Amino acid sequence: MSAVAPVAENPLIEGLERLPIHPTTLVIFGATGDLAHRKLLPALYNLAHEGALPERFNLIGVSRSDHAHEDFRKMAQEAIRQFSRREPDEAVLEKLLEEVRYVPGVFDDASVYKTLADELDEFDKAAGQRMNRCFYLSTAPAFFPVIVGQLGEHELCRHEGADVRVVIEKPFGTTLAEAEQLNREVLSVLDEHQVFRIDHYLGKETVQNMMAFRFANGLFEPVWNRNYIDQVQITAAEDIGIGSRAGYYDSAGALRDLIQNHMLQLLCHVAMEPPVNFTADEVRNEKVKVLHAIHAPTPEDADRMAVRAQYAEGESAGEHVGGYLQEDGVAPDSNTETFAALRLEVDNWRWAGVPFYLRTGKRLARKVTEVAITLKPVPHLAFSQEGSLGVKPNQLILTMQPNEGVSLSLGAKIPGTRMKIRPVFMEFLYGTSFLSQSPEAYERLITDAVRGDATLFTRNDEVEAQWRICDPIVQVWEKTPGPLPQYESGSQGPAEAESLMINGQVWRAI
Ligand code: BG6
Repeated sequence: MSAVAPVAENPLIEGLERLPIHPTTLVIFGATGDLAHRKLLPALYNLAHEGALPERFNLIGVSRSDHAHEDFRKMAQEAIRQFSRREPDEAVLEKLLEEVRYVPGVFDDASVYKTLADELDEFDKAAGQRMNRCFYLSTAPAFFPVIVGQLGEHELCRHEGADVRVVIEKPFGTTLAEAEQLNREVLSVLDEHQVFRIDHYLGKETVQNMMAFRFANGLFEPVWNRNYIDQVQITAAEDIGIGSRAGYYDSAGALRDLIQNHMLQLLCHVAMEPPVNFTADEVRNEKVKVLHAIHAPTPEDADRMAVRAQYAEGESAGEHVGGYLQEDGVAPDSNTETFAALRLEVDNWRWAGVPFYLRTGKRLARKVTEVAITLKPVPHLAFSQEGSLGVKPNQLILTMQPNEGVSLSLGAKIPGTRMKIRPVFMEFLYGTSFLSQSPEAYERLITDAVRGDATLFTRNDEVEAQWRICDPIVQVWEKTPGPLPQYESGSQGPAEAESLMINGQVWRAI
């Protein structure tokens, strides 16, 4: 028997991953902010530690507060020492920040961009070549169009002989109209291939593994459709409250914060067709097709297929905690949801009729992000009544966090003299299979942006397609007066979420 021919290497992907990365200057707008301190700077350190940055790499921070280069260097060192996933090696840290620059100023001030251009030119001169430029917008969303506009005006969006890329943090708009407008503004200055819209879930190992799992195994594809799958449940539960983020969260809410982006991406990974290769456009084309197959809800649908609620006081991590309306910075009559659940249908040949349930919430029983795929029950049970009682439909659980792994439930005979059956689990856990610490999502995403690989970033039509699904619900909710249903902190969420379930299905325990 002849061996199966190896799948041809994809020169586009393989080539990109093997090539040395062109010398790059990374500019972080909002460099003194929380995201830069907690995620971006530590990610840069870990990339430096692994030798994954370009050989010539420079960093410039831009922010409103007035600091000298040296102050920013110290601040960045501190942030890395505090938040890096590994204890920093002082020599690597020193080298990474040796030449770091800081440009203070407000983002609509032209002089900021003149100073920035001078700093960038200095780095090019020192390198003796034109370096790639990567602008990372880690600011409040109101500044995204302002910064991109200024980069355009100061001719910083093109750099002959080198590449210029712009990374845009979330949220990308707060409505469909805003997202469309932002896309228009951004694309009036940049080409789509220069734009890298972040959804940090796409950088998670476990999310990328969904593609490996589906498309590197022959086992699942034959059953991966409406004939065998009964329902899909996607949960992103958190035990934390909103902390000090009331300013952002109270104007966003759970639907915009997690469902519009991260959870719809998870849904796409479950429902997409196999891409012909793993290049940015092929992968994103398949995801966009899934989003297009989900009907935008009408106002009437919104009531039938969406539920929202707010956390009330209760217990979290053994402590008594107040409700959402008592949080600092939240108006006592706020109608912002901290829990949202949807029932969606992907109306295409593969999935028609299979409910996709999505739910997310703050202050739930525990932190867990998972995709649970439940197969249909077997058509006939030949066991005696007693034996049949323990037979449950097979379930495949992909756990994104915290216990990263995959688990498949199977019915098995309980040892003994009678035919009694109960589910057992076949499990794969990252921790025991790979024995290495997974990189943070931002490490992967920064490398890809610097390298110019947009596969794990959201394309313009994709972000708009995501909004097309969520925007009608946002509109209905904004017009519907409160108060919102409440759920106890530390609980499974509101009882109202049950109303979404069809065909006798039930939510999995959190
Ligand atoms: C962010 C949301 O995008 O994702 C936060 O703004 C949320 O509200 C966070 O807590 C969850 O991310 P992770 O990686 O902890 O699942």
